[in-house]
Amino acid sequence: MQRARARGKRDREMSRGKADVRFLLFPFVSLLILGGSEAATDGNKDKEFYIVYLGDSHENEEHAARSHVQLLSSLKTSDDEARESLAYSYTKSFNAFAAKLSEDEAAELSNLEEVVSVFPNRYHELHTTKSWDFMGFPQTARRNPKMESDIVVALFDTGITPQSESFADKGFGPPPPKWKGSCGHYANFSGCNNKLIGARYFKLDGLRDLSDILSPVDMQGHGTHTSSTLAGNVVPNADLFGLASGTARGAVPGARLAMYKVCWVSSGCSDMDLLAAFDAAIHDGVDIISISIGGMVPDYTNDSIAVGAFHAMRRGILTVTSAGNNGPNLASVANHAPWLVTVAASGIDRQFRSKVQLGDGRTLWGVGVNAFDPKEKLYPLVSGADAGANSSDGGASSSYCVNGSLDRAKVRGKLVYCRFSMDGVDATIKGSGGIGVIIGSQDFLDTAEIYMAPSTMVDVTLGEAIDGYIHSTRSPSAVIYRTEEVKIPAPIIASFSSRGPNPGSQRILKPDIAAPGIDILASYTPLRSLTGLKGDTQYSKFSLMSGTSMACPHVAGVAAYVKSFHPTWSPAAIKSAIMTTAKPMSRRTNPHGEFAYGTGQLNPARAINPGLVYDMGETSYIQFLCHEGYPGSSLQVLLGPGRPVNCSTLVPGVGYDSLNYPTMQLALRKAREPTIGVFVRTVTNVGPARSVYNVTVRAPQGVTIAVKPESLSFTRVMQKRSFKVVVKAEPRLENQVVSGWLAWKGLRHVVRSPVVINGIRFDGQADRPGVD
Ligand SMILES: *[C@@H]1O[C@H](CO)[C@@H](O)[C@H](O)[C@H]1NC(C)=O
Ligand SMILES: *[C@@H]1O[C@H](CO)[C@@H](O)[C@H](O)[C@H]1NC(C)=O
Ligand SMILES: *[C@@H]1O[C@H](CO)[C@@H](O)[C@H](O)[C@H]1NC(C)=O
Ligand SMILES: *[C@@H]1O[C@H](CO)[C@@H](O)[C@H](O)[C@H]1NC(C)=O
Ligand SMILES: *[C@@H]1O[C@H](CO)[C@@H](O)[C@H](O)[C@H]1NC(C)=O
Ligand SMILES: *[C@@H]1O[C@H](CO)[C@@H](O)[C@H](O)[C@H]1NC(C)=O
Repeated sequence: MQRARARGKRDREMSRGKADVRFLLFPFVSLLILGGSEAATDGNKDKEFYIVYLGDSHENEEHAARSHVQLLSSLKTSDDEARESLAYSYTKSFNAFAAKLSEDEAAELSNLEEVVSVFPNRYHELHTTKSWDFMGFPQTARRNPKMESDIVVALFDTGITPQSESFADKGFGPPPPKWKGSCGHYANFSGCNNKLIGARYFKLDGLRDLSDILSPVDMQGHGTHTSSTLAGNVVPNADLFGLASGTARGAVPGARLAMYKVCWVSSGCSDMDLLAAFDAAIHDGVDIISISIGGMVPDYTNDSIAVGAFHAMRRGILTVTSAGNNGPNLASVANHAPWLVTVAASGIDRQFRSKVQLGDGRTLWGVGVNAFDPKEKLYPLVSGADAGANSSDGGASSSYCVNGSLDRAKVRGKLVYCRFSMDGVDATIKGSGGIGVIIGSQDFLDTAEIYMAPSTMVDVTLGEAIDGYIHSTRSPSAVIYRTEEVKIPAPIIASFSSRGPNPGSQRILKPDIAAPGIDILASYTPLRSLTGLKGDTQYSKFSLMSGTSMACPHVAGVAAYVKSFHPTWSPAAIKSAIMTTAKPMSRRTNPHGEFAYGTGQLNPARAINPGLVYDMGETSYIQFLCHEGYPGSSLQVLLGPGRPVNCSTLVPGVGYDSLNYPTMQLALRKAREPTIGVFVRTVTNVGPARSVYNVTVRAPQGVTIAVKPESLSFTRVMQKRSFKVVVKAEPRLENQVVSGWLAWKGLRHVVRSPVVINGIRFDGQADRPGVD
């Protein structure tokens, strides 16, 4: 049933394939991913794709590629067979290859000395402009146009629509000299220009499906949408059916775009394609990478996004990712490595609602985008449960209006009331000769689905009232009016947005930040109808989409914006600037607190001027991983074979979490005594040379937070100052999550960090023997 949730409007995070059957229990995860990995293994049952990691020795690309064939030849009966099994050589930014291997061959390879690690290729699933104005980032915001036009942002996504106005190159000069990427002419793809300067695709499993075109062209709308949110041109008069009308624009309309298509209709997004995109993008000279694709692998050394992003970070490139759409379940957050920015989805202050009028004169409201004006005053109304084709199951499946369960004669020309079980009921009703549908649901009432027939979704208690009305009269009737835009309080975190705590580390708070991800208007593809459902004839240049996928490019765009003012800042500095300037959100309206929103709502205008940043580089992350209990040998995947790590001889990181992270999270120990965590932090002055910052602290009940020293003074730019934060939490906080914060306040800056105390243990969390 959940397969139908694959419909695009309420976008899903792409999560891992086969290993994650348990996630099928969560809303928003569709069977598509399983379909994807099955497709990949069909026809070659005992062989699968593996990624064989040799680390990054860079003598010579050609030599590296040849050595990959040689290595494979040692397993296979002939060189030809070796060449045939090789799917790809990653030679530009790291040294690895993807090949089709049996389990035995994979095991044999992993025993070779030159091989750092071997991991199976997995398939992931995918995870919209008023949003900028809503965040206080107007079209007239301060810009650094020269620098902005030298910024190249990369997206790993479903491809792009090159002819879209959002990517036209009027006013753009040639690509910046550092750009080494490429863009070819491909099927159904008109090519690049001076705005869209790179476009490639990776489909290394070689499986063809008619639903895909081997080209960077976007068949799904997702990549076009995220790209335009990140860096689309300013396009006036954008709307969908007259809704959400206004000027569409990206965070950095002056920046250049490069699309690396790694997600396919037929198979989702695979690890080997993602790694190929990292290999290429790092080499091509991109500045920021945006990935609205998810994964739930808790281990940072065999997660393709974490591994690829680490290599990118080492070369000064920040990777921004979506937190996932598996909320509101706790510990569902994806992409949680500390060198990634993990983005939650929030709502802006509008919603799309349709008025429903019942025959007895009552009116009520539903949610969704319904572009149809009623032709009649009222339509006959029937309950799906009473319109079943098969009376022997008591209406069980017809009450959900499952395709095939309805008697066409009983729904023809009528509106039908259905309980929600999956997306696409509007198509089913239309296909069965009905007029439209009122859907009663407990979930997803904060996102507007686009409908292909007159439809709306109401809260299930209203739904029951409708059902009651149907049974109270001999000829029940109703009408659904065209959708209107209404104002609602905001921001709140989307119900679907994945929540913490971090399944990968008990000491790192995730998600990091929240950005708009509900009903976002951005560019769309002409190659897919708005719903993607059978029989839908609605097409539009702009569409509304929801998901953490839509939130991610907002933050990636602001990272590019920050970089256009501070081109020399490290990825960690840019990330810190974005996090510490976020607008605090409220636990009262978001009961999961920081586990829902991290530091709060993205605040673009302030992010370029944070005052102080929490900076760090690759060594800090290695110290952190050692502290978390990762064996040094496993870290070669991140660093390369020339750089062995021995955690017991490495200078250890300092403090409770061994990382200079902009937030703090203490895991409560099960004990009679209070749990104490001493966090050590270093801030770098990026504000005025002479400045003084005093600390302000808020501690929740049962917790004390002491900061030493309480004042930091600077005499020059880039000067560093360290401080200690002693967090002491009472044992009575067991089974609770509470939070406070500390903020360094200068004359014109506030540098704020949440402090979270987690008294709940989650089964999903990795339990590494880390040092406390
Ligand atoms: C990833 O690594 C962890 C341990 O480091 C291991 O338990 C897990 O099986 C690995 N997963 C894959 C798919 O290789
Ligand atoms: C792609 O191009 C081919 C050849 O020009 C054409 O037949 C096909 O209809 C195009 N596909 C789409 C989805 O536009
Ligand atoms: C009718 O329902 C029964 C019981 O659920 C089921 O066994 C049967 O296959 C159904 N028939 C049709 C035509 O759907
Ligand atoms: C419903 O099922 C019929 C028969 O299997 C199929 O032709 C039709 O496309 C389905 N409708 C939808 C909306 O999936
Ligand atoms: C790491 O260093 C320690 C102390 O020098 C040594 O005993 C150990 O063998 C080293 N481990 C590896 C894997 O080299
Ligand atoms: C910091 O505290 C000192 C001493 O209390 C005070 O003189 C100073 O004005 C404060 N500075 C700021 C920026 O609040």
